[in-house]
Amino acid sequence: MGNELGAGSLFNNPMIANAFELMRMNENIHVERLEQMHERIRQRWHRMEPFTNRDLENPTVELKFARKAMKKISIFFRNSHIIPRILEVGSGNCVASAMLYKRIIKFGGKLTATDLYGYMHTPIPEVKCDCEEAIKRFGESSNILLLFSPTPTSMEKIVTIDYDVDKYINENGYYVPDCCGWFMDYFAIKAWIELCQQIHEKRYIVFFGELGGSDGTTGMYTFMLEHPYWKLIRRMHVSSEPDMFGGNCVKEVFIFEN
Ligand SMILES: C[S@@+](CC[C@H](N)C(=O)[O-])C[C@H]1O[C@@H](n2cnc3c(N)ncnc32)[C@H](O)[C@@H]1O
Repeated sequence: MGNELGAGSLFNNPMIANAFELMRMNENIHVERLEQMHERIRQRWHRMEPFTNRDLENPTVELKFARKAMKKISIFFRNSHIIPRILEVGSGNCVASAMLYKRIIKFGGKLTATDLYGYMHTPIPEVKCDCEEAIKRFGESSNILLLFSPTPTSMEKIVTIDYDVDKYINENGYYVPDCCGWFMDYFAIKAWIELCQQIHEKRYIVFFGELGGSDGTTGMYTFMLEHPYWKLIRRMHVSSEPDMFGGNCVKEVFIFEN
């Protein structure tokens, strides 16, 4: 267990303490509700507007933070003597993925990058598929599921799936990214967990972001921390800066093990 887990000094900083508070206040996601909506959410994945501009040169987080996070992830696995066979879902333009890839191949690691939109010009090859398909195709041969800054979603948004969906379709016929069920992290993690239950090998989930702050589904932090078969084995602080909305924001790498 790393000494960065629950580091006291971080909690002494009022800004950081608030961000943690915020994550804690985000109660568990409504799993039952999400599962009822599963098919409808999945259909919408394929009608959503590409989240990241295809011409974007950087990852969705600042370059310096992506570099720092990827360095920490690779050092963790190298020092733990684990050869990473990483499956990344939602890899976007793969700029961040390439930072990790370059580090882990030095000690025998592999990385399969996948994204719903299969960005064409990526620094490493990327497979175009949704997160569940990625787990079906590449899950068995991987030992780590990576979610790097996944799309934010809150449970409030699920209401729009029931009631007012068309309001969120833009002139090109796409659902705009900020609504109607991304929930990529939840469904990827769920599929991964189901697969891992059938495989007798240590498996990992690496999540970079705020677990329900401005990355990932609201409530994922609680969901993962309370999961009966998975435990948080490492938590590595990466940045504490106001987010694009001016709110408190702490980004960390979370590593879970089954
Ligand atoms: C916030 S971006 C992060 C991209 C990249 N990891 C980065 O840090 O630059 C989230 C990515 O998730 C992808 N995505 C959203 N829903 C998805 C799904 N259901 N399956 C696979 N990828 C998905 C989007 O296309 C987008 O590229």
